[in-house]
Amino acid sequence: MTTTTKAETHDIKDLTLAAEGRRRTEWAERSMPVLRQLRERFAKEKPLAGRRLSACLHVTTETANLMVTLQAGGADVALCASNPLSTQDDVAAHLVRDHGLKVFAIKGEDHTSYYEHIRAALAHRPDVTMDDGADLVGSLHMIALNRLDDLAPPVRRWVETLSVAERKALVGGVIGSTEETTTGVIRLKAMAKDGVLQFPVVAVNDSDTKHLFDNRYGTGQSTLDGILRATNMLVAGSTVVVAGYGWCGRGFAMRARGAGANVLVTEIDPLKALEAQMDGFRVCTMAEAARVGDIFVTLTGNIEVIRVEHMRAMKDGAILANSGHFNVEIDLEGLKQAANGPVQVREFVEEFQLDGKRIFVLADGRLINLAAAEGHPASVMDMSFANQALAAEFVLKNAATLKKDVYRIPADLDREIARLKLQAMGVGIDTLSPAQHKYLASWDMGT
Ligand SMILES: NC(=O)c1ccc[n+]([C@@H]2O[C@H](COP(=O)([O-])OP(=O)(O)OC[C@H]3O[C@@H](n4cnc5c(N)ncnc54)[C@H](O)[C@@H]3O)[C@@H](O)[C@H]2O)c1
Repeated sequence: MTTTTKAETHDIKDLTLAAEGRRRTEWAERSMPVLRQLRERFAKEKPLAGRRLSACLHVTTETANLMVTLQAGGADVALCASNPLSTQDDVAAHLVRDHGLKVFAIKGEDHTSYYEHIRAALAHRPDVTMDDGADLVGSLHMIALNRLDDLAPPVRRWVETLSVAERKALVGGVIGSTEETTTGVIRLKAMAKDGVLQFPVVAVNDSDTKHLFDNRYGTGQSTLDGILRATNMLVAGSTVVVAGYGWCGRGFAMRARGAGANVLVTEIDPLKALEAQMDGFRVCTMAEAARVGDIFVTLTGNIEVIRVEHMRAMKDGAILANSGHFNVEIDLEGLKQAANGPVQVREFVEEFQLDGKRIFVLADGRLINLAAAEGHPASVMDMSFANQALAAEFVLKNAATLKKDVYRIPADLDREIARLKLQAMGVGIDTLSPAQHKYLASWDMGT
């Protein structure tokens, strides 16, 4: 275990980093006016009073602002990381020292520590869980289905100490859950389809004020930021290959073009491919792109998008990075078997020798924007995390009527977040006149 400051209530790197974490969290808060307004209401109304909430999220300054909002709403909060590389240790220290939060997260933690921290978040016995990639909910479902062999060893060992009644109480105690990202939502919908989902879940990612902005503009900017911080390469004039033209891929392709790159897009969906082509990008197969690309970025949520056969076709010095949720999009196992190395040449840059050529992999194929940079800017997380806070309130408020299914946040709340964001940005919009209202609602007014 890679711990230095460990107690029953936390496991973080170093409490003395708290002051820096506090300064940076306050800086982020300036750009989170919607969440700030929610925090003020939560502090008055206490919609989460007496509830235990376990969150598995990237431990960033923006997440810190969400955690403090949930706490203001009355929740007893435990937080662990949703990726071994995305924790900001100063933020973890700030949350423990200044807010008394239970935080279990250390940047660079190994597989065992990562799951030991998931175990700690589960041992908090949450009424509500909040995931980014469904790791908490996934573990709870393996417990519910008695598939203990599918649990990571630290979680399995703990569950084996619990009686059947205690395991039932752990899963049955969860009133509802929220999920932040596309990959997590895909898994939850698969659970609902198979009839195994154990409690209602709000797919925060499905809110318009989440994926249209966070996935597109957040990932677009922060992925480029991560690649630049890791490599300090000049993007202008280079050929950037973007795998996946979903919300994240669109955003990143746009920003890479803005930085002067020639951008190639690979897709498997004909509609998305057509859209990319008409947006002015060259669309081709990965096999074609492999021969010409300088920088390859995967944003698909799928496995083995860049395989060894592609890597063998690449130019000397090709750079591979991933910004999809899990580190499965680049076949790193295949590369490790086929190549010599790796040798670390810079922080977050590893060199492999394959067929006499160099292939550079960034951040071990993990989310480059969170590993090498700071994740999305606060202004966009303001909307994502306003959705998270409202989703937690929503599942508790509607516990009696919600089924074991995947829900979206109600459309009026989604629009309200957009309205508040515009207001905070000082942007006014028109309102429908009574005549316009009538016109749009009628079918009998012609030319
Ligand atoms: N880096 C971040 O901070 C961040 C933020 C949000 C979401 N994500 C993650 O990024 C991934 C993508 O999210 P999204 O919202 O853009 O999803 P999306 O569903 O909108 O887009 C994914 C796209 O990838 C395409 N695709 C699938 N397999 C492919 C393949 N083999 N080759 C090429 N294209 C392929 C799909 O057709 C789709 O268009 C998910 O894992 C999501 O969880 C990361």
